[in-house]
Amino acid sequence: MKKIKIRGGKPLKGQIEISGMKNAALPILFATIITGDVCVIENLPPVGDIEVTLEILQAMGAKVMRHNPTVVEVDTRDIKQGSSPAGMVRRLRGSNYLIGAELARFGRAKVGTTGGCNFGARPIDLHIKGFSALGATVTDGDGFVSAHTGERLKGTKIVMDKISVGATANILIAATTAQGMTIIENAAHEPHIVDLASFLNSCGAHISGAGTSVIKVRGVEKLHGCQYTIIPDMIEAGTYMVAAAATHGELVLNNVISRHLDAVSAKMREMGIIVIDEGDRITVKTTGSFNSAKIQAVPYPGFATDMQPQITALLSLASGISTVTENVFKKRFQYVEELQRMGAAISVDNQGSTATVLGVRKLHGATVTALDLRAGAAMVIAGLAAEGETCVLDVETIERGYFDIVGKLRSVGADIELVEE
Ligand code: EPZ
Repeated sequence: MKKIKIRGGKPLKGQIEISGMKNAALPILFATIITGDVCVIENLPPVGDIEVTLEILQAMGAKVMRHNPTVVEVDTRDIKQGSSPAGMVRRLRGSNYLIGAELARFGRAKVGTTGGCNFGARPIDLHIKGFSALGATVTDGDGFVSAHTGERLKGTKIVMDKISVGATANILIAATTAQGMTIIENAAHEPHIVDLASFLNSCGAHISGAGTSVIKVRGVEKLHGCQYTIIPDMIEAGTYMVAAAATHGELVLNNVISRHLDAVSAKMREMGIIVIDEGDRITVKTTGSFNSAKIQAVPYPGFATDMQPQITALLSLASGISTVTENVFKKRFQYVEELQRMGAAISVDNQGSTATVLGVRKLHGATVTALDLRAGAAMVIAGLAAEGETCVLDVETIERGYFDIVGKLRSVGADIELVEE
């Protein structure tokens, strides 16, 4: 059991290096399976979910060689289809990318039910619909999703019922080796979709339009290995941007792609926080109080749902009343009770979709739990800003997606420690 202890009230000052993006690295690592070759992945964040992903690949027969903590060589030549251990697969949502990858390489797939953060039901019907449209026969039951096709999947036009990052990525992965052209309409625009497409193109795929609503994939027979560098994690960067503001500090975040953070920067500026954007680095500072805001969490390029808990923690200290509406997941305000323990004045409507946040002058330290990854980051932010000592439990949840959060925050002046019991 690990916990984070924070004695709050210290303004953060200094520079933080942003790691590679977990949600780009996950589909890319699983997509190495298609190549049946050697891929070298750089700027990999050494976070919990990535370690589990590498363990899954190894358990399936891949050779994984670590050049250093952020560079990994993955040789998927000897991978055995359908051999992923269900227990490990259940620990991640991202492991559903195995279905697309196994289908693209072997024409068949068998993968256990996936897990991930709990925001209510997280169906995979859109993934299954996409695979079926590509000609696969898919069954979902008894804890497994199984899919098979004849020789190869067949390219077709797929109009997504709803914007889904996971389904867009999974269909993209599967379609790389399909016969003919696949067109994905109403696709997710997220930078990690663009990164996945760039990786696949580096392996010989023909994908265009990633980052727009219409992605075209001209199927090829085979992919090959490549060397690829993962993009910086915009959510990690956004989290530290918010932490800088919450502590009235000044942080410079290095190794970012600042346009990925436009929605966060725009909201923070609207709140009266100074955000200086220099392309690959962002400076955030605030001198005094900041204003309330209205936030709508929506798919990219709008304000990311993965920044919703962190901005809510910040708004709990703003002057005035804010509203935060979650439009992506049904149950993403479960952490509000934890912030209330620290003195935040937040109420959530009966549908669980909008939080009204009445800014308070101060939060106070308390023992709180990281109920999910980003909620955990929000607890750390609240703890850094609060008076007194905060203890955040279930730190492993935070470590699934943040590399060395304690070390990074300590290096910019936070009074924070990781306690292992
Ligand atoms: C990805 O989850 C991320 N996870 C999440 O990040 C992120 O919150 C989410 O995208 C939205 O940006 C990974 O990349 C591993 P979706 P995903 O499919 O793919 C519904 C984090 O903190 N839906 O875009 O699961 C779904 O219920 C994590 O790093 C269906 O109805 O999200 C949701 O309402 C948490 N059927 C909406 O679509 C489906 O088949 C968007 O989900 C698929 C999704």
